[in-house]
Formats: sequence, C-alpha cells, structure tokens
Amino acid sequence: MTHPRSSLPRANSKALAALALMAAAGLLAASPAASATLERTGPAAASAEPLAAPDIPIGNVKSHLAQLQSIANANGGNRAHGRTGYRASLDYVKAKLDAAGFTTTVQQFTSSGSTGYNLVADWPGGDANQVLMAGAHLDSVSAGAGINDNGSGSAAVLETALAVSRAEFQPTKHLRFAWWGAEELGMVGSKYYVNGLSATDRAKISGYVNLDMVGSPNPGYFVYDDDPALEKVFKDWYAGIGVPTEPETEGDGRSDHASFKNAGIPVGGLFTGASRTKTAAQATKWGGTSGQAFDRCYHSSCDTSVNIDDTALDRNSDALAHAIWTLGTAEPTPPGQSYENTTDVAIPDNAAAVTSAIAVSGRTGNAPATLRAAVDIKHTWRGDLVVDLLAPDGTAYRLKNSSGSDSADNVIATYTVDASSETANGTWRLRVQDVAAQDTGYIDSWKLTF
Ligand code: TRP
Ligand code: ZN
Ligand code: CA
Repeated sequence: MTHPRSSLPRANSKALAALALMAAAGLLAASPAASATLERTGPAAASAEPLAAPDIPIGNVKSHLAQLQSIANANGGNRAHGRTGYRASLDYVKAKLDAAGFTTTVQQFTSSGSTGYNLVADWPGGDANQVLMAGAHLDSVSAGAGINDNGSGSAAVLETALAVSRAEFQPTKHLRFAWWGAEELGMVGSKYYVNGLSATDRAKISGYVNLDMVGSPNPGYFVYDDDPALEKVFKDWYAGIGVPTEPETEGDGRSDHASFKNAGIPVGGLFTGASRTKTAAQATKWGGTSGQAFDRCYHSSCDTSVNIDDTALDRNSDALAHAIWTLGTAEPTPPGQSYENTTDVAIPDNAAAVTSAIAVSGRTGNAPATLRAAVDIKHTWRGDLVVDLLAPDGTAYRLKNSSGSDSADNVIATYTVDASSETANGTWRLRVQDVAAQDTGYIDSWKLTF
C-alpha cells in the first residue's frame, strides 16, 4: 500500500478550516500550542503521512468484554446462536454504534431452527464503490460466555468503530463494520450476508478484515497470509513495535473471512491462537508458556473475562485501527486494464491439465508486481484442482495446490501474482489439472488485470 501523497484526508482539511476560523478570530496568536498544531496541519502536511490512527483505549475494549460477560451471566452462561444472550449481545453493540452516529442494520436469518442476526454498521461517507469492511463473530458456543472466542474480536472491532466516530474520521473509502451470528455453527451469518449481496455490491468490497480470538491468554501473534496488501498493513504495524508475527495456519478458512474469500473478496485478519500448543520457539519470541495451548479454555466454560491477555488484546485493537486508517485513506488503485476469457473449458476427471488462453497486446514493458488473476472455476470438489498461471514464456505461477481435505465447491478467487519479471504482451494461460477421481468441473471464466 502506498501512502497518499497528494491528497489530504478530509479530516485534515476540516481541521485546517477550523484553524482558519480560529486565526480569523485572533485565537491562535497568543498560544504556542496552537501554532504548533497549525504547523503540523499546514500545507506541508500535504506531503506527509496520512493522519495516524488513534491509540485504542484498552480500558474501553475491556469494558465491552465485562458487559458481554454480564450478558452471559444473565442469560444462562452463554451468548450462543438462538439463545437470549446472543440477541442481548447484539443489542449492546448496536446501542453503542447508534449513539456514535453509525447507520446500523440488523439482518435476520434462520439456522438450526432458530433465528440468527448479523449486525452491520455503516459509517456515513466515503466512496460507495470502495467499501472497506472489518468484522467479528459475536456468537459464543453454548458451553460458555465466549469472551476470547469471540468477545475479544467483537470488542476490538466495536471500539475501533467508536474511535472512527470520536475522530470524525473522513476516509476516502466507505467503512462498514459487522458482527456475525452463528459463526460457531459454520459461519452461517457471514455466508448469509455475502450470499445476499448482488454481484455488483460484492465487487464494491475492496477488502474484509476478520478478528476472531485476538486476546488468547497464552498468545501468539498470527496474521492471515491471504491478500498481500491486507497482510502487509498488519505486519508493518507489528514490525513497528518490534513484535514478530507468524502467518496464521491454525485451520485456514475456519472463520468468517472464508465467506468473503470464497466470493473472491480480498481478506486479512488477526488471530492469537486457539487449542494448538505454543512451541518453545514461540514462547521464546512471544513469552508465555510453551507446551501449553494458546487458549486452554477454547470452546469451554472457562472462556470468561479472565481468559484474556490484555497486551495481546491491546495490540490487536491498535493494529486494527492502524489498518482501518491506512487502508481507509489509501488512494484508489487505478482501474487498470482487464483481459478476459469467458469460454468454458471442461476439466477432465483425474487427467491431464487443460488451459484457457488470454492474448495481451499493445502493452509496453513488463507485467506488474501485482498482476491480478481472477479465476472462476466451477467444480464439485475444488480440492482436486491444481491451478497455475502461465506467463507468455511458459513460466508457471502456482495459484492453488490440490488438497485432499478441501471438499468445498468451486474456485472463485482473485490471486495477486508478482509477474514483474514477465513481459506483459503475449499469450497468458490459466492451467488447471484435476488430480483426483470422481468430481469434475470446468473453467467458467478468468480475467487478468494489469
Ligand atoms: N472461531 C473459530 C472456531 O471456532 C476459532 C478459530 C480456530 C480460528 N482456528 C482459527 C479463527 C483460525 C481464525 C483462524 O473454529
Ligand atoms: Zn469458536
Ligand atoms: Ca476429480
């Protein structure tokens, strides 16, 4: 992500206007503090970094967790889908957002015979064609209060949204925050939301950031290694405080970001670990206890308000705010030129690879470091498929490996490829091979964006 250099975030122009008024009223002259402020927000700021994200007050995040714990206590000990504690949790979050000036929507669905709810909060303003989303699942399992899983992510997203309001942040992108129902039943709420969007509205979502379990008591610092730009913004923030991170691997696709990723939306997120054991090497770099789970209370009754590491929760809340401020004010990426092949190509079962070609001409120089390959393959068991992008000279870039356990349908995803060593002009090919018997499918379409 490059920082915007030419355009001031609008909050800055607003601050300038206020300062101009103060100057006109003679309020600035006597105050050195005010003139220092004027210097920072003056014309020189146009070439400076965008407004820094605020520090998220950990006390506020923890007070949301205390409220969620009280809600569980008053509702049979949990905040699970279909139970009264879930709706009470949603009402708590919604009231805070309504008071802060968000436009909130409660989306209702049915799962396992019970009514479930998503809460969606839009921050007015920003480019409606570029929506930046952050979300967390708000339901617990029925075994307990679910304070780390996922009160932690819910509270961090809530407090970041409230910080947006306090700062009167005016990002270039439109911001949308969401709290999902019934994640613990298989990401039901987030799937319902994504499936309910028109293709046009889906395409407007430029990224989705997921926070699920971000205050584990024996924490690790994991960053989803999915969309490179979303991954980078978090890794940069952690590098800035000198805390090492690792790519998130504990069950890829086990939270609501999977619903977005499956629809081809770029995703990222943060995670501090569930039932896996912290290794000695991890304890050396992060502290905590090796040989013990990141969260020994994962999905159990002891996931209460004491099941939280405050430092981890604080860092991840601040990291989220940094991501929202950085990505929210980023210059829109220039539209680029797309080349598409929409002719179906059958993929024979457990057989040789097939290809689909796209001829690119009239370009100069090499392909970009962020060549985007949007793939739409219909298949009844996508784990069977190995997918490569072939450059004009035949160099193969692996987009996706086969996996015996990935039984989901279809490969509908946008991959970013560093193709900067390839000439742009020439015939690019999508190569798809089905490497396991039984399930079949076809290349429906694919598209390259330079
Ligand atoms: N809510 C998730 C679950 O119950 C927690 C989880 C486990 C998770 N592994 C993860 C969240 C990896 C994000 C990434 O399964
Ligand atoms: Zn869970
Ligand atoms: Ca097959």
